[in-house]
Amino acid sequence: MSEMSESRRRAQINDAMRADMDNAVLCWLATVDADGVPNVTPKEIFAAHGDDTILIADIASTNSVRNLSAHPKVCVSFVDVFRQKGFKVVGTARLVAPNDADFTQMCAPLRILTGGAFPIRHVIAVGVEKVSRIWAPSYSLFPERSEAELMDAAYRTYGVRPEPDVP
Ligand SMILES: Cc1cc2nc3c(=O)[nH]c(=O)nc-3n(C[C@H](O)[C@H](O)[C@H](O)COP(=O)(O)O)c2cc1C
Repeated sequence: MSEMSESRRRAQINDAMRADMDNAVLCWLATVDADGVPNVTPKEIFAAHGDDTILIADIASTNSVRNLSAHPKVCVSFVDVFRQKGFKVVGTARLVAPNDADFTQMCAPLRILTGGAFPIRHVIAVGVEKVSRIWAPSYSLFPERSEAELMDAAYRTYGVRPEPDVP
């Protein structure tokens, strides 16, 4: 096996990904078990780490942790439901346990998100290898509509209004 394939190619987290991660309420983590049975569950506590890693808090993710311990290839997706776009990321997960040297450092951005309210059992550190854009079909079906118009439609669909800008 070549050095390149052994070390696994990494893809970069760009500003568009960071923006959608900040605006997404949840990400969805997909794993697969030993029999090839897929598992996908929501995780609210997730954050970018550097240019090529997504951190996810294992607070109550027993099946995901068991699956990725045996099969570390995972898929993570997240969308900004109001802008109606997001990303799908395929990568390799590393389980970071409390007795690992980098646990405290890896936990720090996740603890900020929880405000310390939830105990984090492990950090699931996903090395980003492949990134695809997720677009709502409206973008291709109605290319004449602006993002602002699409957002207005989403606010109406979800029965919410954006907060007015606070000076
Ligand atoms: C809105 C929402 C947010 C959640 N966020 C997290 C999270 O950040 N981390 C976590 O471990 N579980 C989180 N959970 C709980 C898991 O999704 C849930 O315990 C799930 O059953 C775990 O499945 P798994 O064992 O297949 O990973 C969340 C659940 C919901 C509904």
